[in-house]
Order: sequence, then structure tokens, then C-alpha cells
Amino acid sequence: WSQSALSICVVGASGDLAKKKIFPALFALYYDNHLPKHFTIFGYARTKLDDAKFREMIAGNLSCRLSDAGDCGAKMEEFLSRCHYQAGQYDSLEDYGALDKRMCAAEKRFKRGDRVFYLSIPPNIFTTVAASASSAASSKSGWTRMIVEKPFGRDLESSRQLATELYKHLTEEQIYRIDHYLGKELIENLTVLRFANLVFEPLWSRQYIRNVQVIFSENFGTEGRGGYFDQYGIVRDVIQNHLLQILALFAMEQPASMGAEDIRDEKVKVLRSMQTVRLEDMVLGQYRGRRVKGMSQPGYLEDPTVPPNSLTPTFAACAVFLNNARWDGVPFLLKAGKALEGRMAEIRVQFRHVPGSLYRDKLGFSAGMSSESATNELVIRIQPNESIYLKINNKVPGLGLRVENTRLDLTYGSRYQTHLPDAYERLILDCVNGDRRLFIRNDELEVAWEKFTPVLQEIEERRVQPEQYPYGSRGPVGAHYLAAKYGVRWGDHNSDDL
Ligand code: BG6
Repeated sequence: WSQSALSICVVGASGDLAKKKIFPALFALYYDNHLPKHFTIFGYARTKLDDAKFREMIAGNLSCRLSDAGDCGAKMEEFLSRCHYQAGQYDSLEDYGALDKRMCAAEKRFKRGDRVFYLSIPPNIFTTVAASASSAASSKSGWTRMIVEKPFGRDLESSRQLATELYKHLTEEQIYRIDHYLGKELIENLTVLRFANLVFEPLWSRQYIRNVQVIFSENFGTEGRGGYFDQYGIVRDVIQNHLLQILALFAMEQPASMGAEDIRDEKVKVLRSMQTVRLEDMVLGQYRGRRVKGMSQPGYLEDPTVPPNSLTPTFAACAVFLNNARWDGVPFLLKAGKALEGRMAEIRVQFRHVPGSLYRDKLGFSAGMSSESATNELVIRIQPNESIYLKINNKVPGLGLRVENTRLDLTYGSRYQTHLPDAYERLILDCVNGDRRLFIRNDELEVAWEKFTPVLQEIEERRVQPEQYPYGSRGPVGAHYLAAKYGVRWGDHNSDDL
């Protein structure tokens, strides 16, 4: 590192994502000494700002870890002194040229200057920025990498177009397509859980698993993001990327190594074996306003940035199937919604019943209770309150024999007294280190779109009406019918909190 300098340029520096996630992640990396010694950060956007104003803008969102906040102020000052701002038009070669000059000045004492561009910009200027930044401000002495954020198109065709445009200026090795769910601690842990433990892998198939649920819910609506959201809807915003990525990691075969290409090869394979999603296996919803705890919560259509007759779904659930030997016939249920009753993301694995169980009566089957209460279920809680727990049947201590379903519990908050890094910290660091394992390869993206594009087109062509659900509720009842069609009951985290 001592021979080289690193410049990180955040294009779209005054946007929300940059302010709330990217700069705080960069600061956290700096604070924990993960950034190379000689680094400089540049913000690039159209707004006219000088370095001082820029630093003021980002300082508001920087924070230190609570436990070691002693030198926080000094560290923050040091970090901010490395942050600079370049105002420029997004399509101006001249403006990127000015940025290049400043980057060269920061790199001039070093043999090599490496550059990361983080494109935190709206999709309509994506290719323009990639083209201009790479032609006017690529490094001449080291590598240049670009982190790009979704949306990567809105269907297979537009995604291919985007790829073609990007390839005119960048190689696949330079493109880091981010899916921030892959940077979350519990998702990183999925491969460890599966492949480093003897006890799980033998159970990981249709033989023992009845169904798998990947659930995402948010307790707020599109507030302020309606303009963006309405163009995409929840299937493109969350399911086709975040949830599908989780499914791929969950269901893939063991890769030949932990190398980026080996892992991504396996993910592509499993996605290829997925059946194209069908409309009859999908439920769509849209939230309407209601009063919650005395406060009136606006419906999706009341968002001023949303067209008044929009049919865009803010909730979707779908059942998908993998046509391979391991998962044949196992329903994977994906569910995502905004303005629901809680904020939570988790994976639920429901196992088959114990055949010929000795404890049938003790578990309440005969008392009219559903057998669901006796199901072994593995829950991987991605957020909040990160944890992994296995619901098992256990004898209630004491005389007599009463059996109850309880949990074997690994709650991160009590097991690890450590701060969990934000997904963006992990991913930016991986990009700096050239580790592409957690980024989406182009063929992965293509196959993800292949599986969802037909149903998305059908929804739009047939103008499918989403089922309404009240703000803050559990979502449309249709989701329960969909699950029931495949003999599944959605797991319920509320009833797990024993
Ligand atoms: C983004 C979606 O990718 O993920 C948002 O565009 C969503 O709509 C967000 O709110 C959720 O991310 P997290 O990390 O807050 O769960």
C-alpha cells in the first residue's frame, strides 16, 4: 500500500444514499484502520459547494462506535480533511477532467494511483456518467473500479442494454454491481452455516425441508421515494434482487472454493434451475392509508409523487420452485412489503414432521392444535436483532410429561458484544481489495431478469389490480391463500418470541 494511493470518488455526493450510507461507511472503515494509508475521498455532484461546505454536509451523518468514542472528534477531523468536493455536470468531460487533475495531484508522490468510483446516481444518467468518468478520469497508473447501484434496468431487455453500454467503457472486472443485502452479516454467514457445520448440510434438501420462506417487511411506506418507486414496484425493488440473492445462496450447491467465480458459478446454476415465476403464484398488494396510534398514515396513492391511479405493487408474495434434484417440489416463498406492521428480514426453513412421532399426543396434535406448532423451524433473522434460532420440541421441566416447541437460540446481541459492520462498509472494502464475491456478475443478473421479466410484463399488460391492505397491517390476505395452496403457513416471528 505504501507505494500506492487510493482515490474514492462518490458521484452523486449530495444524494440521500451517499449522505446516509456511503460517507458514514467510509468513515467507519477509516476509523477502524481498514482503508489504505494514502487515500483521498472526492464528492462529485452538480451542486456548487466548496470543500468546507461539503465537509459540513457529510459530517452530520458520521458517528463513532459507542464503546470507543474517546478520540471520535479528532478522527472525524482527520477523515474530513481527506474529503474534497468537485462540482460538475454529469455528462461533462471537462468537469471530470478537472476531477482527474485533482486526483492526479493527490496521487503524485506515489508509483500507483488506484481509483474507485461509486455511482450513487439515478438510473437515467447511469451510462452517461460511467462513460464520461471512465474516459476522462480513469487511473493511468493503477486500476479503476466502478461500484454501481441498482436498478440495473427494469427487465431483461433494458438490463442487457445497460450492460452493452457499460461494456463500451468498462470491462466486467471493473464493474462492481452492488446488492447491499449480500453485505449483511447474517447473509455472509449463510455459507459458513451451511458448509462449515456437519449438522445442517445433510438436512438441506427436499428430503427434510418442507418449505423455505424469505421475508422482508418495512413499517414505513415510500415516503419521499414515490417517484422512483412507482417506476419499479416491490418486485423489482426488493424481490428480484435482494430476496433472490438470498435464495441463491441458500439453495446453491457447495462451490469448488470460496473464490468469487466459484461461488457465483453456483449461484447462476441454481438460478438457472428456477422455474419462471408465474402470475398464478404471485399476490400483489398496495397499502392504503389509515390511522395508526392516533396518527394518520397516508396510503401509497396519497403520496404526491405517485400518479393517482397507479397500480404499482408495494407488497408482493410469490412461490418459486427449483427444478433440480435437491429441491424438486419444495416451495420457496418470497414475500416483501412496505408499510407493514414491523421492520424485519428473515429466512425461515420449515422442516418435515417427525415420522411416527412418539410424542404426537404430547405435542397437541390431538388437542385440535395444528401440527405447525411442532414443526422444527430454523430461523435466520437478518435484521433487526440479528439471530439464528432453531425451533425444537422440548420437555417442559418438571413432573409429568409436557412437550413444548421452544428455541435453541443464538442471538447475536447476547452472544457477541461487538458492533456489526454496516453492509456498505463490507462491500466498499471488498471493492477496494478487489474481492468480487459479494457483487453480482452479469450472467447472474441476466438470469434473475429472465425469471421475473415475463410475469412483470404480464402484470403490466393485464393491468393486474393489487389487493389493498391497510398501512401498518400484516399485508393482503391473498398471501395466506398463496401459501395454503402449497400447504404452507407463513412463519410468525411474533409467536416465536417466547
Ligand atoms: C433498497 C430498496 O434496495 O433496500 C428500498 O430500494 C429498501 O426500497 C431498502 O427500503 C431496504 O434496505 P435495508 O438495508 O434498510 O433493509
